[in-house]
Amino acid sequence: MKNIVVLISGNGSNLQAVIDACQQNKISGRICAVFSNTADAYGLLRAEQAEIPAHVVNPKNYVDRQAYDQALKHAIDQYQPDLVVLAGYMRILTPDFVQHYFGRLLNIHPSLLPKYPGLHTHRKAMENGDTEHGTSVHFVTEELDGGPVILQAKVPIFANDQESEVIKRVQTQEHDIYPLVINWFVEGRLSMVNGKAHLDGNILPPQGYAAE
Ligand code: GAR
Repeated sequence: MKNIVVLISGNGSNLQAVIDACQQNKISGRICAVFSNTADAYGLLRAEQAEIPAHVVNPKNYVDRQAYDQALKHAIDQYQPDLVVLAGYMRILTPDFVQHYFGRLLNIHPSLLPKYPGLHTHRKAMENGDTEHGTSVHFVTEELDGGPVILQAKVPIFANDQESEVIKRVQTQEHDIYPLVINWFVEGRLSMVNGKAHLDGNILPPQGYAAE
């Protein structure tokens, strides 16, 4: 059974999707710990309810980002993770941290990367008049939201949409695709080789699996 550590900052709906998928044996691994940088993250309660060890590592206790990531890395490694999953973890990672988990660090980002890295992706898509938006699961590299894409899901943007409706539509897709990709990884089907995502030995195209 592969060990998965999940990092969160907030609601943790993606964490919940992964917890559920593990419980339903849709992921052949187990979440051995959850870490948050904020004490009031609702996802911590989700972890506790699932009897998963949940920890807060508070940035205020560290002099800088380097010291913080060092401490976080040390705490995570107590669990000997095969995979570290960022699920709404809203801190920028240091290169040291990324290198330490290189090839076993996944993120989900709410846009059709390479479009809209960074924050407020739904708003940016709406302001640009896009008629579709989506989400991407990718390997994490040192470039912010820039690592190779593994899988994307698209959603429509309708003329009268509120931002909250687009966010919800995107998150519904996230809850399907993140557990799927995590299972590919823990089953040994997915890897990053020479900066590219590989699934079942095949290099995935820039938009990931099932790109049009
Ligand atoms: C998710 O939509 C995820 O894509 C996004 O934060 C949300 C967290 O929701 N992540 C990022 O923006 C990272 N750049 P959740 O806490 O309910 O899973």
